[in-house]
Amino acid sequence: MKKIVILCMLMLSIFGCSKGDDYLIMGTNATFPPFEYLGGRDGTSVVGFDVAIGEAIAKSLGKKLKIEDMDFDALVPALMSGKIDFAISGMTITDERKKNVDFSEAYYEAAQMVLIRKDDLSFLNITTKEDLGAQKKLGAQLGTTGSLVATDIAGDNPVTDLKSYELVVMELKNKKIDAIVIDREPAKAFMSKNDDIIELPMDFDAEYYGVAVKKGSTDLLNSINETIKNLVKTGEYQKYIEQHIQNYSAQ
Ligand code: ARG
Repeated sequence: MKKIVILCMLMLSIFGCSKGDDYLIMGTNATFPPFEYLGGRDGTSVVGFDVAIGEAIAKSLGKKLKIEDMDFDALVPALMSGKIDFAISGMTITDERKKNVDFSEAYYEAAQMVLIRKDDLSFLNITTKEDLGAQKKLGAQLGTTGSLVATDIAGDNPVTDLKSYELVVMELKNKKIDAIVIDREPAKAFMSKNDDIIELPMDFDAEYYGVAVKKGSTDLLNSINETIKNLVKTGEYQKYIEQHIQNYSAQ
């Protein structure tokens, strides 16, 4: 009995307590195809590339995966308070976020992209970020690196209080904003389902997605890094890319 109690305490100290020991909780914001979005047979399960990574992490630790779908800007606070064990949400590794959470090694290289309405001919005159910032209303999801880039380009002008990228795309289509700043793969995913939006070609720096954990969760972080390394080594990672990212537009 005593041994069991000690074992349990050990497990709790590694994986966080009070949440039950047979599952790990992944936080995400399922409005970001093809990384996380609502789909599956009934259209209400959270699916996508990040979910596949999360499943692999849980499996490697002998746990089931439980997903908490929440606002993107609630993920870091949820990690800090221990409400979730890790966040996988196309989250770019940034120095600002590193003050509050720890990140795994990068698992995906991304960059921002600008999308506009296909029939908006006024963009014919816009070739630089300066023009874009000075003349157009930009939008991005609340709490994202896209919103930082939009603010960089447009000063106080952009709309960055929208809770999901689906809403941001809707605002673009409804002409409430003129252009959106969004990560490249989700941009392509939205374009594949909306033939009235197109890319405005512009260069942006590379960003790297990481799995975020509560600060100091070293054991969990080590096994996450180990899992990511193994997924790449066994070719599973490439399979997820094909299945979830390359096949998304064909769905
Ligand atoms: N990569 C961007 C960031 O880290 C956007 C991520 C948005 N993710 C989401 N699931 N809505 O800020």
